[in-house]
Amino acid sequence: MKIFLDTANIEEIRKASELGVVDGVTTNPSLIAKEGRRFEDVVKEICSIVDGPISAETVTEMADTMVEEAVRLSKIHPNIVVKIPMTAEGLKAVSECRKRGIKTNVTLIFSANQALLAAKAGANYVSPFVGRLDDNTEYGMDLVERIVSIFHNYVYDTEVIVASVRNPIHVLEAAQMGADIATVPYSVLMQMLKHPLTDIGIQKFLSDWKKVPKE
Ligand code: G3P
Repeated sequence: MKIFLDTANIEEIRKASELGVVDGVTTNPSLIAKEGRRFEDVVKEICSIVDGPISAETVTEMADTMVEEAVRLSKIHPNIVVKIPMTAEGLKAVSECRKRGIKTNVTLIFSANQALLAAKAGANYVSPFVGRLDDNTEYGMDLVERIVSIFHNYVYDTEVIVASVRNPIHVLEAAQMGADIATVPYSVLMQMLKHPLTDIGIQKFLSDWKKVPKE
């Protein structure tokens, strides 16, 4: 399974990419807003750090203006994937982008039928938001299971990005279900990496090593 980082924070992206486990980055307008910098500048810098798909989101609501944004964003770097919200106008924009060879990630997916329509329109990625479903007392990972099994039944090249990830169990279940990608906040990546028994084990090895005669 590929792991993307769900952040626009350059420091986090640098630190995580040094680990050699980051295959791409997803951003959204809320994540960009946190950085207090120009959108294009942030996206360009991310592309210079991670050599993989980098999602940058449109912020208009009509298909024609979304396509204009998509054309502009896709010129920033060949790795740009244009994130487009799951609406009727969004689907129109996705199918136009597909014709123009612009990669898209359909975001704010909360049902399997939405994912099916996005795939049919030609989306390269769909992003089911599992954490926000959990917040709404719906089991978010059920949606991922459905989408993965639907895509398995047919020949779509659309990849499933498990998004709105809140904890390592989301990532573990995504991998068990065969989702293509989980996009994770930096904090979740660190939670995945750490285990208290590893830390205790290291301390024990290091203290025992001190007892080994060195000459
Ligand atoms: O990037 C989209 C998604 O991952 C947002 O997550 O935590 O704001 O629901 P969250």
